Amino acid sequence: MTLHPLIQNGYYGQFGGQFIPEMLRRNFVDLEQAFDEAWQDPTFQSEYRALLRDFVGRPTPLQRADRWSERCGVQVLFKREDLAHTGAHKINNAIGQVLLARRMGKRHIIAETGAGQHGVATATACAWAGMPCTVFMGAEDMERQKPNVDRMRLLGAEVRAARTGSQTLKDATNEAMRYWIAHPQDTHYVIGSAVGPHPYPMMVAEFHGIIGEETRTACREANLTPTHLVACLGGGSNALGLFLPYLEEEVELVGIEAGGQGVDSGRTAATLEKGSPGILHGAKTMILQDSEGQIEEAHSISAGLDYPGIGPLHAHLASTGRLRTSAVNDEDALQAGLLCTRTEGILPALETAHALAWTLRADWTGDEVVILNLSGRGDKDLMSYTHTSHPHD
Ligand SMILES: Cc1ncc(COP(=O)(O)O)c(C=O)c1O
Repeated sequence: MTLHPLIQNGYYGQFGGQFIPEMLRRNFVDLEQAFDEAWQDPTFQSEYRALLRDFVGRPTPLQRADRWSERCGVQVLFKREDLAHTGAHKINNAIGQVLLARRMGKRHIIAETGAGQHGVATATACAWAGMPCTVFMGAEDMERQKPNVDRMRLLGAEVRAARTGSQTLKDATNEAMRYWIAHPQDTHYVIGSAVGPHPYPMMVAEFHGIIGEETRTACREANLTPTHLVACLGGGSNALGLFLPYLEEEVELVGIEAGGQGVDSGRTAATLEKGSPGILHGAKTMILQDSEGQIEEAHSISAGLDYPGIGPLHAHLASTGRLRTSAVNDEDALQAGLLCTRTEGILPALETAHALAWTLRADWTGDEVVILNLSGRGDKDLMSYTHTSHPHD
């Protein structure tokens, strides 16, 4: 892998690393080497890029959001990842990792999913590649994101319910890890965000770097210089995809966490704001934990942000001040999502709605050029949206 200058021996500052069980050691050695070779191999690159174009539908547009801009008092553009095949950015990484797994001779794919978007993307990539796929999903998330459970099953994936803990993303990840430890040889685990042990965070970020790359090209063509890049933070993959080509440039990076019912309510997923350094799912990062280091349950109305950890690169960027973070609560996200639907004609994923809500309350001078990563569409969230009253009704 062409190592990003920020990564040193699998670490980003004090965060990252590879805290893995001995049984998976071989898998990680093989994965690092396979990604390193594939990423520099023009044949792999051209197959991956062709799939992004023809199967995923890239490039996605960078759209001027005129009414949203007027409401915020600043120029806002949406990077329309909701228009990618399967309705979210997650497909960029899923298709990349499934291609890599096939090149490594793996015969079975597993994945975890929260909102179901990564599960659908992985099931889609597996249907395309003709590979069997098992997706682990928290039982609570299976209820609130039911349309995506149906989609995964239609695509031929087996969906297994995780019934431990809060029965959400953390528990699905635990189940996927457990399965992988028991089946290390023929299985590849497609992690769905920029989290987990090295090399996953950087590999997932690289597979999503196309988002930022296209944004740069579109800005150049439109003669625009962005001042702010804004994205919601679950594990951090859509944000890193947008940020990656801009890390060394003079532009403000803004990551929006899920405040849940309030960052001090005890029912939050604002990991960077309320967490502390610890180890979760094989990496050192910021996590929500009690005084004895036990993981605390996260809460967010959006399944994709409902996670007590965050990618280690985000933890590093936030600790050095390069990444500015803020938290948006459930209710504000819901209302922003509804407003975007009514005024922009785009029903956004509840995850994305958190970033949208922040742009409404931020203190703008009016001169900024803001690019918001519209990470996914909200069809999966219809139930949550329709149970909310709209202020304009
Ligand atoms: C549409 C959408 N946006 C954002 C996220 C958050 O994940 P990440 O921070 O990895 O982009 C998810 C996760 O499921 C999602 O489905």
